[in-house]
Amino acid sequence: MKNIYITTAIPYVNGEPHIGHALDYCLADVCARYQKMLGNKVRLQAGTDEHGSKIWQKATDLGVPVKEYVDGNVKKFQDFIHSMGVEYTDFVRTTDTEHEKRCQEIWGRLRSHIYKNKYEGWYCAGCERFVTEKEHVENGGVCPDHAKPYEWLREENYYLRFSDFKEQIKEAIESDEMMILPEFRKKEMLALLADSPDVSVSRPREHLEWGVAVPDDAEQVMYVWIDALANYITVLGYPERDISGWWPAEAQFVGKDILRFHAIIWPAMLLGLGLPLPRAMISHGFILSDGQKMSKSIGNVVAPMDVIEKYGAEAFRYYFLRHIDTFLDSDFTWAKYDNAYNNELANDLGNLVQRLATLAKKNNFELKSDFDAKLPNEFCDLMDKYEFTKAFDFAWGKIQQINHDIDEQKPWSLAKNGEKEKLDSCLQGLIVDLLRAKQMLSPFLPVTCEKITGIFTNPIAPPETPLFPKN
Ligand code: MSP
Repeated sequence: MKNIYITTAIPYVNGEPHIGHALDYCLADVCARYQKMLGNKVRLQAGTDEHGSKIWQKATDLGVPVKEYVDGNVKKFQDFIHSMGVEYTDFVRTTDTEHEKRCQEIWGRLRSHIYKNKYEGWYCAGCERFVTEKEHVENGGVCPDHAKPYEWLREENYYLRFSDFKEQIKEAIESDEMMILPEFRKKEMLALLADSPDVSVSRPREHLEWGVAVPDDAEQVMYVWIDALANYITVLGYPERDISGWWPAEAQFVGKDILRFHAIIWPAMLLGLGLPLPRAMISHGFILSDGQKMSKSIGNVVAPMDVIEKYGAEAFRYYFLRHIDTFLDSDFTWAKYDNAYNNELANDLGNLVQRLATLAKKNNFELKSDFDAKLPNEFCDLMDKYEFTKAFDFAWGKIQQINHDIDEQKPWSLAKNGEKEKLDSCLQGLIVDLLRAKQMLSPFLPVTCEKITGIFTNPIAPPETPLFPKN
C-alpha cells in the first residue's frame, strides 16, 4: 500500500465556475478512485486562488472589499466540486492565514536564489504574467487568451534566478523523472525552458497590494503564481510538518494554458527548497462550447450546474470523461450531451442492467459469486498512463459486447423453452461480464456502479426506476 497525493489547479475566484473548470476535478477524482481500488491511500487536494490583480480589479469594479468578494465566491466552487461527486481530502484558500505564513517561510528558504531588479515589460493581467517582446509582436499587442491589450509595466521586482535550476529541470523532464503528459506538451515545455529568463516573483505594493507580503520588505507583495503554486505543499503543512509521506505528488492535473507555470516555475521553487519534483504533470485540453472558445462576449459560456441538473452528476461525469478527451480540446454541445445520455448511458448501460436483472428475477436465478473480478491488464495499462478516455472506452466496449452477446444468446428464448440449466449458465456468464466491466467503470461512474453491485447481489432485483430514465 502506497500513499498517493493528487492535486488539482486552484481556480481564480473572480467569477462563477464554468464547465472548463470541471476537468481538473473529474480527472483527479478518477485517478484518486482508481488508486484507492488498487489499495493505496490517497489524498486529493483542491482549493481556490484568491490573490492577484485580476481578482483585485474585479472586486474594485464591483465596489466590494476584496476579502468579502472572494469569501462570497469560494462556496460556489466548493458546491460545484461536490456536485460532480468529486471527493477531495484537503482544501486550501490562498487567503488562509496558515497558507500565507507558510508562503513567507518558503520565501525565506528560497532567499538565496532571489535578487531585486528593475524591470520594464508587457504584462497580461488575465494570464498574470509578463510576456516577451517577441510574444507581444506575434500577438499584435493583444493577449489571444484574454482578448485584452498587454499593459506596459515599469517595476522594481524580486526575481528567482532561474539559471540555478534550468539544467536540472531540463534533465528531469527529458528523463521523465517529472513526466509531462501528453508527449507533445513535454516537447513544448522543453522548448520554452530553453529560453526562459529569470522569473519575477513579486509586485510592488503600490501597483498591487492584494497578495502575500514579502518578508522584510514592506514595499513588495508576492507574485500571485508564487503563492498559488505553493498551495500544493502548504496544504500538507509545509514547512513545519514533514511532508515526505505524501510529497512528491503522484499526479498534478492542470490545463494546457497553465502548464508553463507548473513545468518551469514550480520545479524551480521545489528544487530551491530541496524538495523532489512531482512524478507526473498531466495537462488537459480545453472544453469548447459549440466548437468555439467559451467567452462572455460570444455568450456561449455553459454553467456547470445547468448541465449537472439536467441528468445528474453521473451523466456529467460520463460526458466529461468519455467525450472530452483527456489531453485534447473537445467540444460540449447540448445536442451531443443529450445524445450521449439517451443513446449510450440509458440504452447501452441502463437498459442492459434492467434487462439482465429482470430476466434473473423472473427466472429465480442466483448468482454464483466466486468469480475473479481482477481488473484487466489492458485497462490498468491505460489508467497507469493517464489515458482515461481510452480506458473508459475500453470498459464501455465491454458493455457493448455484453449487449451484443445477450442478443445473440437470447436468454429469453431459453426461459421460454424451459431450458433452466442453459439459462442459468447464460445469465451467469453475462452478469459476471457486466460485474467485471462495472469494476472498470467504477472510478468514472461511482454511484451507478454501487447501484449495479446492489442490484446483482442475491436475490437479484431490477431497480424500481431505470438507472438512466430516457429523456
Ligand atoms: N489560478 C490559476 C491556477 C493556479 S494553480 C496553482 C488559474 N485559474 S483558472 O480559474 O483560470 O483556471 C483553473 C483551471 O481551469 C486551469 O486548469 C485551467 O486550465 C482550467 N480551465 C479554464 N478554462 C478552461 C476551459 N475552457 N477548458 C478546460 N479547462 C480550462 O489558471
